[in-house]
Formats: sequence, C-alpha cells, structure tokens
Amino acid sequence: MKRRTFLDQSSLGVTSLLIAPHVLGCAPKTETQAVIGKSTPYVISTWNVAQANTIAGKALEEGANALDAAVAGVAFEEANIQNTTVGKGGAPDRDGNVTLDACVMNHLGDCGAVLAVENITHVAALAKDVMEQTPHVILAGTGARKFALEQGYTPEDLLTDSSKKAWEKWKEKGNYQPEINVENHDTIGMLCCDAKGNLSGVCTTSGLAYKMQGRVGDSPIIGSGLYLDNEVGGAVATGLGEEVIKTVGSFLIVELMRQGRTPQQACEEAVQRIIKKQKGKPDFQVAYVATNKKGEIGAYSVHSGFSYSLYKNQNNQNIESNSVF
Ligand code: GLY
Repeated sequence: MKRRTFLDQSSLGVTSLLIAPHVLGCAPKTETQAVIGKSTPYVISTWNVAQANTIAGKALEEGANALDAAVAGVAFEEANIQNTTVGKGGAPDRDGNVTLDACVMNHLGDCGAVLAVENITHVAALAKDVMEQTPHVILAGTGARKFALEQGYTPEDLLTDSSKKAWEKWKEKGNYQPEINVENHDTIGMLCCDAKGNLSGVCTTSGLAYKMQGRVGDSPIIGSGLYLDNEVGGAVATGLGEEVIKTVGSFLIVELMRQGRTPQQACEEAVQRIIKKQKGKPDFQVAYVATNKKGEIGAYSVHSGFSYSLYKNQNNQNIESNSVF
C-alpha cells in the first residue's frame, strides 16, 4: 500500500490490519477501577510523530480504548522504514541484527513487554499479546519471537538497504558513542487518555544504534520507559536508556505527581536526578513527557531539541520542550 493511501485510510480498522488480527477489540479484563466518566480524549507522544499521534487520536474519537489506540498509533512508525529508531528499518546492533523492544501498560495496571525481538515489526502489539495471552509480563529474544509466530505475526527482515548501508559505514570506524537527538527522534513513548478518562501507554524502539548484541534499554522496562497509574497519571521516556533505568524515570515521575507535583515539575525533577549524578554537561539526551488525571501535560529534557506531539480535539501539535542545556 502506498504511504499516501495508508494515511488516508488510517482509521483504527485499517491500521489494525497491520497487526495480528486479534489484537484490537479484545475483551477487557475485569474492571477494578471506577470509570471516571466522559472526558475529551487526547494523545501525547515523544517527538514529532504527527501521523502516529493522529491515528491514535482519531481511534480514541471513534471510541477505541486507550491501549488499543496507542498500539494502533505506534504501529504506523513501527512500519515506517524511514524511521531508523523504531520498528522495521531501525538501526541494527554492531553485528547487524535489528532487535526491537516494547512495552504496554493499561489503566488496570496490567502490563506486558518484549525484549530484543528479531524479525517482528509490531512489537508493541506483541507486548500487548504477552500481557493478554500469557501468564507473564516479559518475554525476551527467541522466546518472544517464537510466541509472535505462534500468534500469527509474519516474520520480516527488519534490516533495510539504507540501514544496512549506514551500519556498514559505521563499521569503518566503529565508534560507539550515544548521539544526542539522533535524526531528531528516538524511541516513541505514547500515552492515551480515552473518552472514559482511562490512561494507557506504549513504548517502542529499536534501541541504541550499533549497541552490543543483547543490549536492552529503558523502553521495554516497566517503570523506566513507561509507567502509569490510572489514579495519578503517566510518563514516558526517550533518550539514553541506561540513564533512565538508573533512576527508574517514568515511575519516579508518576510517584512525584502522586505527591502533588505537576507533570512539568515531576519531569524537571526526574531530569535533574540524572544531571546531579554527572560530572559536567552530559553528552547524552534524556527526555520525558507526562500527564496527570487533570489532563495537564509536562515535558523536560537534558538538552534542547526535544519536542512532543499532542493530539486533542481533532488537532495535532508539535510542542518544543524546555531543557536544562
Ligand atoms: N530509549 C531507547 C533506548 O535507550 O534503548
């Protein structure tokens, strides 16, 4: 399908065809939390991911629940081979293997994750399947791939010609240096609030370019790349995963909001927690976006250049974040 046609048809129904057929519209687990009532749906995502954000936002407006909308939204970027940091076309590890990480969390506090998966494009949907179809939270590597195939996912070669060329060029020198704002985007973390006022989130990535084989960052780690509590709010992270994991960044932000910080104050404190441990100006980027149950939004990053996407009332905006440096 041509990209333009895809965009024109990107309602929830069409997007869902890219994912395993049973992924969307499955029966919810027992509701343990009160439904908040009617609210205006909205979507926030790390970076300028207008199409993904809009797909999720439109799905919410059509009545999708927050998790289905988020999985459908990020599926666009997972399939977008121009995006070298997520899904198919993502940069490989230093040995040339593309390995993907993702996690999901819903308003009931249920979660699922897949780590270092090869040959499967839609790892956010796969993480949702781990949550819904298995007794586990995390499946890694060959086990996650095997589970995907059992669930009906089609195996694909995720290394595109252009990411192979870039990797071969990198190998000439083989410098292993995290880059700040690589191509101005990185991991997609997305939080959706649906018409019932319920929050869910997704985080999906191909991880650090030219990482060591087996390296996993923050993105699929619940509490680091993503965390939410439907009574408080949610947060997602992007940037150098090692630094996010060391401070359990997304969990920290949600707990700070629980203590009364606004999303902005909580994101700033989480970034400062990282900065305090550094000697001088860090040579890496970390950024957070968060929202609370009032619908307030905050974002903050170590370096300038980070932005987030907000979809609300049929309108998508890209908003620059404040930063320490
Ligand atoms: N934040 C993506 C990673 O470090 O893998």
